[in-house]
Formats: sequence, C-alpha cells, structure tokens
Amino acid sequence: SKPLKVVLLGAGVVGSQVARIILDEGDTLEARIGRRLELVGIGVRRMDVERPGIDPALLTTDLESLVARDDLDIVIELIGGIDPARSLVRTAISNGASVISANKALLAEDLGELSRLAEEKGVDLHYEAAVAGAIPIIRPLRESLVGDDITEVMGIVNGTTNFILDKMVTDGVSFDSALAEAQQLGYAEADPTADVGGHDAAAKAAILAGLAFHTEVKGQDVFTEGITGVTEADIAAAESMDCTVKLLAVAKLADDDRITVKVHPAMVAKKHPLAAVRGAYNAIFVNSREAGELMFLGAGAGGSPTASAVMGDVVTVGRNRRRGTAAHMSSGYTRRQVAPIGES
Ligand code: HSE
Repeated sequence: SKPLKVVLLGAGVVGSQVARIILDEGDTLEARIGRRLELVGIGVRRMDVERPGIDPALLTTDLESLVARDDLDIVIELIGGIDPARSLVRTAISNGASVISANKALLAEDLGELSRLAEEKGVDLHYEAAVAGAIPIIRPLRESLVGDDITEVMGIVNGTTNFILDKMVTDGVSFDSALAEAQQLGYAEADPTADVGGHDAAAKAAILAGLAFHTEVKGQDVFTEGITGVTEADIAAAESMDCTVKLLAVAKLADDDRITVKVHPAMVAKKHPLAAVRGAYNAIFVNSREAGELMFLGAGAGGSPTASAVMGDVVTVGRNRRRGTAAHMSSGYTRRQVAPIGES
C-alpha cells in the first residue's frame, strides 16, 4: 500500500524531535499505523541551522508551497503563533490533509472555526500537544469523559512559570536567571512574555474549557494574570504560611450554566498535591458528575515529552487515513455563555 505523505512545519525544540522519531522509528510506526509514513518536506524559518540526521533536501523556507499540495495525508504544524500558522493550517485542511497542531495560541482563537472546516472536509484536526506537553488531557476530555458532565478543570498548565517559581522557592535564584534557564532547557515560548504574562496558560485554559464544557471559549475570554508581579517577598510570605505560589488555571461551570475561566498566581497549601508539582511539570485536576475527581500529571514542556504527544496524534490520524475515517468534535456544541471578565 502507498505510504502516507507527511509534511512537518517547524523544526525547533519540538519539531526536531518529531522529525527524528518519524525518520528513526519508521518500522515501528508502520506496524502501529498499518501504513508507512513518508516525510515529504519540512518547513523551516532558517536554512542556516545545523540539523543532524535530517536530509537537507527535505528542508524549505517556502511553507505555503509545501501545504499547497493536494496529495498530503498529514500536516504537522509546530511553528506556533497565529500568523502564518492560521493560513497554513486552513490551506492544508482545505486541500484535504488532516492536521496535527501544537499551537495553543492559534487554537485558542480558531478552534471552533478550524474544527468546522475539518469536519466539512472530512479530515482530522488533533492537538494533544497543545496543552500540557506529554500529559494526555485533550483525548480524555474529548473522548474518555465525553459521556460524563465535567464541572471543573483546574491546575498548572505552563511549565516555564512552574519551573521559575520552583527555582525561586527551592534554590532562591532570581526570576531572571530562572527564566534564562527555562529558555535554555527549551521550555519557554519563542517570546517568553507569553509564558510569564500568563497568556500561554490562558490559551490552554480556553482550549480545555471549550472541550470540557462543549462550547467555544477564546483566549480573550480568560481573566489573565501572570507571574511578573510575584516578588521574592510574596514567596517568602507564602512559605511562612506553609504555602507555595503556583500559577493556576481554573475553569468552572456555574449553576446558572455560565462558565468562568481564569489564570492567576495563587497560594497553594504545601499539603495540596499541586504544591508538589516540580520543575516544568504540569498537573490538571478534572471534576465530573460521575467520575468524581481525576488528576493528570507529567512533563508539561520540552522537546521530547511534547513530541510524544504529537506522535500519538500522528499514529491516530494515520490509522484514520488508512481506514478513510476522521473523528470529529465540532458537532454537539452547546452555546454556553462565558461570564465577562471581572464578574463571577
Ligand atoms: N512554553 C510552554 C510551557 C511550552 O512552558 O508550558 C509548553 O506548551
């Protein structure tokens, strides 16, 4: 049978790991999918970067032409940011490719619209890697818990800020040097103000809330306060009360059927499991009517952990392409009102 044609957009911290896995684990992936993957091109911003193990003939800076082909099975979008990712993803779907994206900023704006476009075209749109790195959280909300009624999703969804706060508490290092280390380890966004300003967490909270409550939530609906205002004195004060400071994302469904979504620093009692979440780990609690409380914990950022989530989507989407089916999620939306910021 013919191989599945795959295009990768982005070869940065996550993209380079995804390329490595696709190129090195071809036999394993073929066994799991039932078809071979053929990486036909990698879209990059710059050509003058060392990329060991990648055939330079695969690389191009012309991402538009790469997704303009109409013979692609899977486009993996790992460039981040709204533009040009938005038009590249739309073009790919319109041309009949299934899309895998780790782009929380884009999905927090366009998830509803892109899902409808994918459904119309009969292709998949998967984004497990967009929230909480390696932790399976999208699929549990979208599939495993879809027969239940979720009332709350709450936790730590940004690895960079958790790493910074942890370093400040445990090692007493300054905010700036902790941030520099997080950047060096590949946890931070290209522009780390998205991390420290809470916007990365807000985008993820919007995606999680939308899935949990079967409605459309956008990043701008989320009350957002980052950690730039957290001082060493705040941390010391928290310590003296046997607490620690964490950046939390909290999405709740109220009795009036409205939802609230917030990201802000919070004092967490040392005995609470969230206080024990170290380094760039993330943790998410989900509360639902039938299941009760569930906790998800693991690496929330970094190349290999995030690549693991991308590859899970690649195998899932690959199997669907082989069978000629696509799993959708846009149908079944209920329109729920998001409470205005400042209310609730
Ligand atoms: N910058 C993000 C974080 C990467 O620190 O959590 C994972 O989405």
